[in-house]
Amino acid sequence: MATYVLPQDFFFGAAMSGPQTEGGWNIGGKLENLWDTWSIEDISSFYNQVGSYVGNDFMHHYKDDLALLESLGMNNYRTSIQWSRLLDENGEINPEGAAWYHELFRASKEAGLEVFVNLYHFDMPTYLFRRGGWENREVCEAYANYAYKAFCEFGQEVRFWFTFNEPIVEPENRYWHSMWYPQHHSFQEACTAQYNISIAHALGVARYRQAVAEGRMLPDARIGMICNFSPSYTKDDPSEADLEALRMNDGLTNRWWLDLVTKGCLPADVIKTLTEDLGIVLPARPYDADVLKDGVVDWIGCNYYQPSRVQAPSRTHDEWGNPLFAEPYVWPERVMNESRGWEIYPKGIYDFGMKCKNEYPELEWYVSENGIGIEREYLNKDPKTQQVIDDYRVDFVRDHLIWIAKAIEDGAKCVGYHYWGLIDNWSWANAYKNRYGFVEVDLMENYERRPKKSAAWLTKVATSHVVE
Ligand code: BG6
Repeated sequence: MATYVLPQDFFFGAAMSGPQTEGGWNIGGKLENLWDTWSIEDISSFYNQVGSYVGNDFMHHYKDDLALLESLGMNNYRTSIQWSRLLDENGEINPEGAAWYHELFRASKEAGLEVFVNLYHFDMPTYLFRRGGWENREVCEAYANYAYKAFCEFGQEVRFWFTFNEPIVEPENRYWHSMWYPQHHSFQEACTAQYNISIAHALGVARYRQAVAEGRMLPDARIGMICNFSPSYTKDDPSEADLEALRMNDGLTNRWWLDLVTKGCLPADVIKTLTEDLGIVLPARPYDADVLKDGVVDWIGCNYYQPSRVQAPSRTHDEWGNPLFAEPYVWPERVMNESRGWEIYPKGIYDFGMKCKNEYPELEWYVSENGIGIEREYLNKDPKTQQVIDDYRVDFVRDHLIWIAKAIEDGAKCVGYHYWGLIDNWSWANAYKNRYGFVEVDLMENYERRPKKSAAWLTKVATSHVVE
């Protein structure tokens, strides 16, 4: 097997989020977010009826977890601040919430770990959702206030900031595809939310620049956005209609955000299709072009799990009257992670790198999430040691790292890699169905952590930068 070497300054770390790990959902002045509310209102929506409350009990395990990350060869990780923990209903700092994050950042530094901080990971505070959530422009202003308060509070402790994780997911899952609370089926609402999140991002970056100008941030601080860029593909011999499906799929999910973070605008062809051809009403205000200009960031994160393969739809609208741009295209050669229903296609990360190189040549990026979640992983335990034997995880990460190495060789500005869910965590409506970790969390034994077989391999790669 060929050996690939990643640059020595390429960083390895782990990605996680506040709502999926922290727990302590109602202590220390934390307000409800939509995950807590959904858990309270309808626990049967969650796999095995495991709601948001405990995460992976990180608030009780953080010191050991940080030591574990360090022992696995990581020197940095990402998590998110929970809006519903940091601020009270008046948009003021909740001192107990702030104290938790100060302690987390202190302990991380002590463990030799740099923290990357994301401000929003699908965790809308419920009181703001009741005021319209992302459908209400005032919530964008509230987000800007939250971001500024976080910059002021932690600007001297954190270098790397991100406005959003996967901003397309809430519009899609909450408003369009009815997967997450409030489970709506409205493309119009999804577009409103997507537009307003773009505005909120730009307002957040503007407040960051303000905080920099006011001397509140560390000298080498950076701001970015993290998106799930799933490279879009269609058939090998596409019709005009397939190519049109590709244009809109790529336009809504990839170019929308890439244009926002590199050019400070939204893609004109997508906006034209939405407004002129489909009659979607975007909540645009006359001065928004100027607001969006502030959306340009210093670098980005790319969460990559699966490609997006589409073809022309067989009908123009779905049963709820929403327009259909594309239908899934099943590539005959696809390899699946059956647990998650996601295609495994490591070359996609290379293709994303080449797209950036060619279309956004100045843009620096890192792989901010990549990982494989497996159902019923406890069945793969060594009967003697009780260790999870997960060679498939090594294969998955190795294959992706090889394509990252090739992309860097071919000129991609990719500077690091974060594995998603290095320690098993709670995954939204799927709860603990699919396990991502290199480290198992035993729900029956007080959330005890146990490295899986793959952990030794990861440590070797992270410390040597040699992939084989
Ligand atoms: C990303 C998210 O979409 O993928 C994470 O940023 C999420 O929050 C991860 O957990 C894996 O997806 P899932 O749905 O299997 O948890």
